[in-house]
Amino acid sequence: MGKHVDDRLTFTTDFAEIADADVHFICVGTPQQPGAMAADLTYVDAAVDSMLPFLKDGALVVGKSTVPVGTAQRLADRINEITPRDVDVDLAWNPEFLREGFAVHDTLHPDRLVLGVTNDRSEQILREVYQATISGDSTPVEVTNLPTAELVKVAANSFLATKISFINAMSEICEITGADVTKLADAIGHDDRIGRKFLNAGVGFGGGCLPKDIRAFSARAGELGAASSLAFLAEVDAINLRRREHVVEMVRRELDGLAGRRVAILGAAFKPNSDDVRDSPALAIAGQLHLSGAQVSIYDPKAMPSAAQIFPTLSYADSVEDALRDAEIVLHLTEWSEFRELDPTTLGDLVASS
Ligand SMILES: NC(=O)c1ccc[n+]([C@@H]2O[C@H](COP(=O)([O-])OP(=O)(O)OC[C@H]3O[C@@H](n4cnc5c(N)ncnc54)[C@H](O)[C@@H]3O)[C@@H](O)[C@H]2O)c1
Repeated sequence: MGKHVDDRLTFTTDFAEIADADVHFICVGTPQQPGAMAADLTYVDAAVDSMLPFLKDGALVVGKSTVPVGTAQRLADRINEITPRDVDVDLAWNPEFLREGFAVHDTLHPDRLVLGVTNDRSEQILREVYQATISGDSTPVEVTNLPTAELVKVAANSFLATKISFINAMSEICEITGADVTKLADAIGHDDRIGRKFLNAGVGFGGGCLPKDIRAFSARAGELGAASSLAFLAEVDAINLRRREHVVEMVRRELDGLAGRRVAILGAAFKPNSDDVRDSPALAIAGQLHLSGAQVSIYDPKAMPSAAQIFPTLSYADSVEDALRDAEIVLHLTEWSEFRELDPTTLGDLVASS
């Protein structure tokens, strides 16, 4: 962090210190509610409530968190209701599209900016904030109303999740019929309208965004009386979760049972270049195998501490070699480049049989 911190960037947990700011970004978490599909908005609400007493006249509050459509208007109404008459505060929504693992790059060079605003002044302030990005990279700027900005984010994530589940559904059919899903993806991906990106069959998506975002979107559609419009997202979710069960079943079949069998797992993070294990397919599969009696040894270049916090009973290896030693089966579940570059013939000597 050091090189990004100078006297223009400071951190505080004291809301009184924000009183001078012209623009306030809200980037707090919106996780899935425990025991429900909907988003938990308590952190967003708490952040707004905490800043309300300190907002100065002319301040702009900008939401970045991914929220159910309608949240921004509700917050704008609350801000108007609570701030004194002589304090005029606007609210805008500016969804975030960065990819974990490329957060700094994507923040400095976003592929688009979406500015959900209610007036020209808010748009001008946001254009000033993003001036370097807009002029330097010719980043496209989409100016929208509040609900459109909120929806852009969940629509984009729903589309990406659907694309991944689509190819994973194809892989289910390929496995039955002897077809090759990678060749199939290559062949359909040549069509520009389809594209090859996000068409890799595998253990499916996870992390702190896609799963909870499609569930929260479905839940919101239900509240809006439009559940059937997004009914397909339940199937996208189901296909995705089936991948994890499928891997566990494949291992059970290969090893003729799981109790006492030695399984090596490469990867714990939900994606490479991150230590994030939230809803990680790799960790879910490791956990399920462990709970079914297998001896699971897991290694990840970055995510071991966060994985150990969530699943302390798994055996965490110090290296790839350690994880593989005497394994009866090896599962490569997170696409770290250091795993992709491994030479299976060299590693063959370490495992129980190759
Ligand atoms: N992680 C991503 O790649 C990504 C990408 C795009 C959008 N988003 C969205 O951005 C939001 C944040 O995601 P995240 O992954 O950074 O979540 P996170 O849980 O990792 O981080 C949220 C942070 O907010 C802080 N916080 C919670 N309540 C607060 C309060 N009242 N006041 C001040 N700080 C508070 C927490 O301490 C935590 O540090 C979510 O809505 C998510 O959907 C995330």
